[in-house]
Amino acid sequence: MSTLASATPDVEAAVAALRRGGLVGMPTETVYGLAADAENPAAVARVYAVKGRPADHPLIVHVAGAEALDGWAVDVPDHARRLAAEFWPGPLTLVVPRGPRAGDHVTGGQPTVALRVPDHPVALSLLGAFGGGLAAPSANRFGRVSPTDAAHVLEELGDALVDGLDVVLDGGSSQVGLESTILDCTGAAPVVLRPGAVGPADVERAAGVAVGTHRSEIRAPGTLPAHYAPNARVLLADDEQQALDLLGPAPAAGSVPAAGLLAPAELATPPGVVRLSAPDSDGAYAHGLYRALREADALGLRTVVAVVPQGGAPLATAVADRLRRAAVGSGGG
Ligand code: TXA
Ligand code: MG
Repeated sequence: MSTLASATPDVEAAVAALRRGGLVGMPTETVYGLAADAENPAAVARVYAVKGRPADHPLIVHVAGAEALDGWAVDVPDHARRLAAEFWPGPLTLVVPRGPRAGDHVTGGQPTVALRVPDHPVALSLLGAFGGGLAAPSANRFGRVSPTDAAHVLEELGDALVDGLDVVLDGGSSQVGLESTILDCTGAAPVVLRPGAVGPADVERAAGVAVGTHRSEIRAPGTLPAHYAPNARVLLADDEQQALDLLGPAPAAGSVPAAGLLAPAELATPPGVVRLSAPDSDGAYAHGLYRALREADALGLRTVVAVVPQGGAPLATAVADRLRRAAVGSGGG
């Protein structure tokens, strides 16, 4: 039986894979991760090789619960402990001063470590059964769109994973659909490094301190301007009229569609355009965003026009952030 394409998640086989230094495609509520034993430098090195990721980009260490802060971190500020208590398991990653378990191979040589408890039953049972930390970036090739389904993991990394050594766990479609919020918790006030489902107001409420607005000193390479990019050129619209203007006149009847549209459900799809996403909420937009960008590539679309969600709710901000990066990464500006 293939360890890469099995429909029922075999957590026991995944633990065995981790113990022999193999990699595990791990479902989480945000996106799928590519996990290795965070205390096995050779296994972690393979994560970088399989992803094609530069070695100085640090990884998130996934742990089973907040008690793991001791060991993986030191001098954890009180506000970070409050955030862990409130949001773990959940889509929030805390960057804290690293402890003795966090080696250079997961921190990229930085004095900090990023920690998160994923809110997914399969990930939690894997972490519980394995016992240690799992270093896991999103399970995509470097710079590409994160996978939100087990099938996407195989699409991205199937060539580089080894049947019988590595395991992909199918935990269904990731509920949130966008990567976790990352907070720099090394100073007096937490600073947002990457927006996600947990917004600044949620953080302030739970942390009991205001979120810092200064630029963090910390490098978070996932915040490179060009990231999360499909092959198609991504053009951004502030509203529905602008989206229609960017799509331009309808193509000749019978021609192969070259443009795709991501826009709120109430906007009708113009003729000759592929509707990639028609969300009725920020949550639905986030949940389906990466699947839609992947579909654009599968259909060979040249252009994707996306209406940027407004309003400033956490997931609207996060979707807007990923769309901007997709636009830069695809040459769409
Ligand atoms: O939702 C998520 O966070 C997913 C799932 C799998 O947990 N993971 C994820 O990992 O998005 P990745 O590697 O694609 O993005 C992690 C980001 C990177 O931008 C990395 O630079 C940043 O976290 N990061 C990791 N350790 C850090 C550290 N010590 N200081 C600052 N940034 C760090
Ligand atoms: Mg990533």
